Amino acid sequence: MARTASEVVSLVGTLGQVLKSEKRTCTTHGEYTDHLTGLGKARSAAWHGCNRCNAAHRAEDTRREQQKLIRDNLRRSIEGRVGRSCIPRRFSDRSLAGFRVDGEGQASALRICTDYAENFPAHARVGRSLMLLGTVGTGKTHLATAIGNHVIRRLGMTALYLTASSAFRHVKASFGSDSPHTEVEAYALFESPDLLILDEVGVQNVTEFERTVMFEMINSRYEAMKPTIVISNRGKDELPTYMGDRVVDRLRENGGKLVLFTWESQRGKESV
Ligand SMILES: Nc1ncnc2c1ncn2[C@@H]1O[C@H](COP(=O)(O)OP(=O)(O)O)[C@@H](O)[C@H]1O
Ligand SMILES: [Mg+2]
Ligand SMILES: [Zn+2]
Repeated sequence: MARTASEVVSLVGTLGQVLKSEKRTCTTHGEYTDHLTGLGKARSAAWHGCNRCNAAHRAEDTRREQQKLIRDNLRRSIEGRVGRSCIPRRFSDRSLAGFRVDGEGQASALRICTDYAENFPAHARVGRSLMLLGTVGTGKTHLATAIGNHVIRRLGMTALYLTASSAFRHVKASFGSDSPHTEVEAYALFESPDLLILDEVGVQNVTEFERTVMFEMINSRYEAMKPTIVISNRGKDELPTYMGDRVVDRLRENGGKLVLFTWESQRGKESV
């Protein structure tokens, strides 16, 4: 095929002068005309090779670069989400698979939490919450953070872990005139993640202020149809005292499950 004048101009423009042309055969693309190009000196000249092969290599390089960019961005965004999740370092590697089962209670808790994690998008769509109640050391924080880790890493969604006392402190910190954030921003933080994990509810006796914060927090998420996992060492009957009846009602709505952790403490039994 004869080269048009404009092709020659661009070839010369990018690679220097065409010094020689030869017919060659590419094993992939068949016959083509190869050009020896250079800036007038034969020593700095080079054969161009098959145009279509060169184009394919460039496309492959671009594709690889883009894949790497996408991977890097994905990794960075997951790391960012993990970083912003506030899940304590101690629990950053907790998983559902790492939860030991020896007894029907643990088996049932693991089943419910695994279903919650794996079907989180469906639960989240209807704002279905979860309550994990029971004595210390039974793995409530373990399972809740395992769900959080799954939601962030596997589903690419956002989760935030807070103890009730840190949530109260966050709202209180907005009150001063020189506070770093406003009260509205404090509540916006609680509302923003796809999943909120509220741990250690009812550790101390609650004040009226704390009950109000709890209600605002759970209610704004309820209205936005966003689920919350609430963890408490209080029993089922005591919980309304610490959270308020309306909060418990909202958490139970739409099939929100209540899981009781009744077995002995597993603290210190970690296999790792
Ligand atoms: N069934 C289990 N399998 C493996 N580790 C467990 C199990 N239950 C608890 N743990 C571990 O024991 C420690 C205490 O559990 P944690 O989740 O903090 O209890 P809770 O929040 O109920 O007080 C954590 O390090 C947790 O990972
Ligand atoms: Mg705990
Ligand atoms: Zn070729």
